[in-house]
Amino acid sequence: MSLSSRIISVGGYLPKKILSNSDIEKLVDTTDEWIFTRSGIKNRHIADDSEFTSDLACNALLDALNKLDDRKIDGIIVATTTPDKIFPPVAAIVQNKISLPRCMAVDINAVCSGFIYGMTIADSLIRAGTLRRVAVIGSETMSRILDWNDRSTCVLFGDGAGAVILEACSKDKLWYSDVMSDGSLNDILYVPSGVSEQNDEGSKIVMNGREVFRHGVDKMHSSAMKVISESGLSISDIDLLIPHQANARIISMVGEKLGIQEEKVILTLENQGNTSAATIPLAINEAIAQGRLKRGMKVLLTAAGAGFAWGSILFEY
Ligand code: ACO
Repeated sequence: MSLSSRIISVGGYLPKKILSNSDIEKLVDTTDEWIFTRSGIKNRHIADDSEFTSDLACNALLDALNKLDDRKIDGIIVATTTPDKIFPPVAAIVQNKISLPRCMAVDINAVCSGFIYGMTIADSLIRAGTLRRVAVIGSETMSRILDWNDRSTCVLFGDGAGAVILEACSKDKLWYSDVMSDGSLNDILYVPSGVSEQNDEGSKIVMNGREVFRHGVDKMHSSAMKVISESGLSISDIDLLIPHQANARIISMVGEKLGIQEEKVILTLENQGNTSAATIPLAINEAIAQGRLKRGMKVLLTAAGAGFAWGSILFEY
């Protein structure tokens, strides 16, 4: 019997502290008006100094697990670009912090597309029969890699985590996935200094905003079109578009190019900012809470970000 995956639970967590645009006006030369009109962002959540990416991930995963009858998990995949430590992986720290029994636990780094990559890997492991139930978590403390003196980047990001639990099912469920990367675009969005390469250029985000904007729109659109075309469906069959939340103008251009109605697009970035790998699971969680995402709906996820890496998933919820 062939296996498919289905989402059985979703959870989310946002740190308590909220940083508004007017708070940021006190840090750098900017205005609420500039930030909102250029990005669609008004507020973002910022982790406490004592809160790490693993803590955010634990809270999101517990939120998802608490909606189930049992806590059985065969695998944890954490998509993050802001791990607590170089190692162990955040997934293993989460496993320990919430006392989950032995299972696969691994991190992946595909930056803003990390959640799409994580879901694609989890689905493949489930289809292959290797694992039965996998938690895919997007968790980020982006505030730790922001230069709070750089007005062109510090206004855009926030902290948060979302978790989705995928389980094997024998019904042939709709699922088309595309994951892609073009390393020749490494230099439009990066953090200069790291572990193996240590230099004096710093450990904060460097971004060519215009190029990121252009490639973001182009890649999210082409990838979304690819999964739609592979599925044999048409745009009018899609019930909900849940895009990576980088910028309201990017989302609106992707929506326009796809020809999808505005009311089918989920937008959460006004009060969350760009939480990188966490935006999509947080948006799925919010769409369910608002009653906008219902069982049986055909959902399109799409994301793009540093790498440059991008991807899309078309699935039935
Ligand atoms: N407040 C006021 N002025 C600002 C700010 C700010 N926060 N930031 C930049 N400016 C200024 C610039 O200094 C520049 O001034 P100048 O003309 O005197 O030199 C002017 O605004 C225009 O700057 P641009 O960079 O050309 O502004 P643009 O209209 O391109 O908007 C933005 C910048 C919002 C960053 C846009 O390029 C963008 O959204 N890019 C995508 C970036 C993104 O989403 N990154 C997220 C990570 S990747 C991902 O998740 C897909």
